Amino acid sequence: MSGPLVVRTLPETRAACDGARARGLDVAFVPTMGALHDGHLALVKEGRRRARFVVCSIFVNPTQFGPNEDFARYPRDLEGDVRKLGDLVDVVFAPRLEDMYPGEERTRVRVGGLTDHLCGPHRPGHFEGVTTIVTKLFSVVGPCTAIFGKKDYQQLAVLRRMTADLLLPIEVVGHPILREADGLAMSSRNVYLSSDERARALSLSRGLAAAQRAFAAGERGAGALRRLAESEIAPRVTSVDYVTVADADALVPLEEDAKTPGRVLLAVACRVGRTRLIDNVVLGEDAPLSTAG
Ligand code: PAF
Repeated sequence: MSGPLVVRTLPETRAACDGARARGLDVAFVPTMGALHDGHLALVKEGRRRARFVVCSIFVNPTQFGPNEDFARYPRDLEGDVRKLGDLVDVVFAPRLEDMYPGEERTRVRVGGLTDHLCGPHRPGHFEGVTTIVTKLFSVVGPCTAIFGKKDYQQLAVLRRMTADLLLPIEVVGHPILREADGLAMSSRNVYLSSDERARALSLSRGLAAAQRAFAAGERGAGALRRLAESEIAPRVTSVDYVTVADADALVPLEEDAKTPGRVLLAVACRVGRTRLIDNVVLGEDAPLSTAG
């Protein structure tokens, strides 16, 4: 196993991607913040299925963290990440902070509307940080395909919209959530959880699965589905940011007394201990969640 080329600078990364294109290879891109788990590796494998040159970036982006969030303690392990990526990618792009944010900045990329609900109000500035860094990363790598996980459902919708609105010639692909055998959605933040917290975190997928079963049995009340998930989750977690039934495309929450369409998003964000976790299911679209373990 030779492993990927690890590059730190923008010119080297541009040169590697230009070289691939000059050889007639299409470029797939998986942006990450590192602390890679099997969910990330699935994104990278999807990239490999779709293109002959695969780039994975590893950059813990400060502008998407709020002042009281976990930027400083976010897990970082470049060497371990490169080892996990092995031969799955051609290039690991691990830029330096000063290259991605050189000097005083006056430009931010912001997507309106899709960021008004769900995580938007709970994490002011977060999506602007994400869309700004992803635009910069796209401009360095120049991929034809970019792959993101559906666990960050709102992020995926926002990035799809940004790419379309900015006329970027990039296909944005969403990859299904990878879960542990007991249903917990894979996340780099799971490493923060104590064993008691991890057990309590299972309430997220269990709540979503309960609503999914009710939906499959014909329940279409937005409030009833939401409350079903919330009643499983709220007593077990430290605090709930939201449990929301929302339009799966516009991401606008449905009223409690609304009837859901045949495809609707159920999304949750909460804290278990100090760790913020998110999860979601698209009712009427996603396969039944397995929460057996
Ligand atoms: O999903 C993530 O890991 C990050 O938000 C992303 C897309 C790499 C931007 O920093």
